[in-house]
Amino acid sequence: MQRKKLVVLTGAGISAESGIATFRDANGLWEGHDVMEVASPEGWRNNQALVLDFYNQRRKQAAQAKPNPGHLALAELEKKFAVTIITQNVDHLHEQAGSTKVIHLHGSLFQSRSTADESLVYPIEGWELKLGDKCERGSQLRPNIVWFGEMVPLMDLAITEAQQADIFMVVGTSLVVYPAAGLVHYVPAKATIYVIDPNLPPMSKRPNLHLIPVKSGEALPQLAQKLMEEAI
Ligand code: APR
Repeated sequence: MQRKKLVVLTGAGISAESGIATFRDANGLWEGHDVMEVASPEGWRNNQALVLDFYNQRRKQAAQAKPNPGHLALAELEKKFAVTIITQNVDHLHEQAGSTKVIHLHGSLFQSRSTADESLVYPIEGWELKLGDKCERGSQLRPNIVWFGEMVPLMDLAITEAQQADIFMVVGTSLVVYPAAGLVHYVPAKATIYVIDPNLPPMSKRPNLHLIPVKSGEALPQLAQKLMEEAI
């Protein structure tokens, strides 16, 4: 029998229990910076060294973090379901936990890309991205992160996944940043939706909607166990 398709949209909340701070509980400041200073094309134009340093620090923090029971439960679900994770997070904790199909909607801390050609993407491992680091065509490298005001290149792929979901989960995201926040609208009416977040984001009423106002590190292992038993 064909496995059910489980699509999961994750945000900063799923990594909170791994020690990575979420965004919107810090007065719009991010490690002491105005978000637009470090996460927008204008910020990059104004001070490239500051932006590179900001992401170098975040990369160091993410490299030391470990997946928590929430990430591990999502990886475990691959034993019974065809799982796709669509994450807004730029850490790699889903992959570290063992998830094999992860769409990084907002890019990755562990990749750089050319400022001249966005198809030139390179891994960053154990080193810092600096002014003067160039792509093969001689242009400055920048973090491969989708900044405010930029296109989300993987959005079409994410929409196609959401449209095919039998079960859709929304985990640890405030659903305030578009287009990611709009993905829920593409989920078929017959699909079951679970929303897991101690501060539930606003969701329109619909059938088969389950709201779970609990931390993902607690809620996901229990939910995963229930779904796997039902899938037998
Ligand atoms: N378990 C589950 N959810 C949690 C937990 C937890 N332990 N702790 C906090 N949360 C929830 C918060 O209640 C909040 O709803 O995680 C959510 C985090 O929301 P945001 O900080 O807004 O993060 P996110 O939705 O991922 O932000 C989206 O905005 O800054 C940009 O590009 C950045 O990808 C990011 C995007």
